[in-house]
Amino acid sequence: MQTQVVKITNIKGQKHMLEEAGAIIRRGGLVAFPTETVYGLGANGLDGPACKGIYAAKGRPSDNPLILHVASRHMIGAIAAEVTPLAEKLLAAFCPGPITLIMKRKPSVPDEITGGLPTVGIRMPESDVARAFIKAAGVPVAAPSANISGRPSPTTAEAVLHDLEGRVPLILDGGPCHFGVESTIVDSTGSQAVILRPGAITEEMLAEVAGEVLIDPALVGADAIPKAPGMKYKHYAPQAPLVLIEGEPEKIAPAMQGEIRRLQAEGHRVGVIASREVLDSLGPMVPPELRADYGGQGDLPAIAANLYEALRYFDDTGADRLLAEGTTSEGLGLAIMNRLRKASGFHSIQA
Ligand code: TXA
Ligand code: MG
Repeated sequence: MQTQVVKITNIKGQKHMLEEAGAIIRRGGLVAFPTETVYGLGANGLDGPACKGIYAAKGRPSDNPLILHVASRHMIGAIAAEVTPLAEKLLAAFCPGPITLIMKRKPSVPDEITGGLPTVGIRMPESDVARAFIKAAGVPVAAPSANISGRPSPTTAEAVLHDLEGRVPLILDGGPCHFGVESTIVDSTGSQAVILRPGAITEEMLAEVAGEVLIDPALVGADAIPKAPGMKYKHYAPQAPLVLIEGEPEKIAPAMQGEIRRLQAEGHRVGVIASREVLDSLGPMVPPELRADYGGQGDLPAIAANLYEALRYFDDTGADRLLAEGTTSEGLGLAIMNRLRKASGFHSIQA
């Protein structure tokens, strides 16, 4: 299969292209598309066999459910059996936006995508291209991140092409994703919001609208079984083993230097993912081609936006060990640290 990449820069002017993408979805095919979080790999969310194509293209375990993307409140009515008062509040406050709400599902949602759960994840993206594409499809679009299963999610069309060339007929290129980490997943089936996956809509933002917010215990410790099935898999993994260095910002640079020296003495080619400040402190220890600058120290929006490209960067560098600088776990830092912990397989050094 040939993969076509089409830049979308003008939604009105390129209506025919979006119509064509929508037609592929209605015919049971796959289309990769941009959202404000990461790129998605979409199929008709009401067509079980079409959704199976997503699992095949990604190599995704079939017990890991897909979320459904909608363009309007009206579309939610077709898939959710119940929109709780909590869900109503969250919809009003955050949709469209980088959030996925877990709701009770209608029988119209095919079993192929739910992993046997009585619920479904529903997301209304903020990205105009994403919403125009879903509107053109005219059906809820099932879409996981458009990466090969286990790899860092793609935040550019190039990263999608790298993983899925020959496995998807069409990639809509909307440029780099604004947030860079996947949506916050919130269980809204009860009266209290529960964060199942942290993202750009933070605990603090949710608490302002919904009162006290719970966090799935599996997100903080490695032991418990996560309520979002996908969170149990090793994820976001670069090709070389990664160790996370965390602690007070001013202690990171010396700890990083010590660890680099130790690994280099063992003969390793060490790559470093860190803030500009920490990279600057390394001097000639680490050559430019083994550095990925993820943004200024403490600049959480920039770090989130750059993180997955930084993890992917090292695939072609011959680095056989990676060290990454941790951030705070407050605010957006919870999402960043969750992805870094998983990318490291929970290997970290306290600075
Ligand atoms: O930002 C995003 O959410 C991106 C873009 C493309 O929209 N999508 C995304 O999809 O990250 P995916 O499949 O990579 O992650 C969805 C997560 C998985 O961990 C899955 O297990 C969980 O959502 N999930 C899906 N349905 C669920 C349900 N009914 N209950 C709990 N977790 C669910
Ligand atoms: Mg994913």
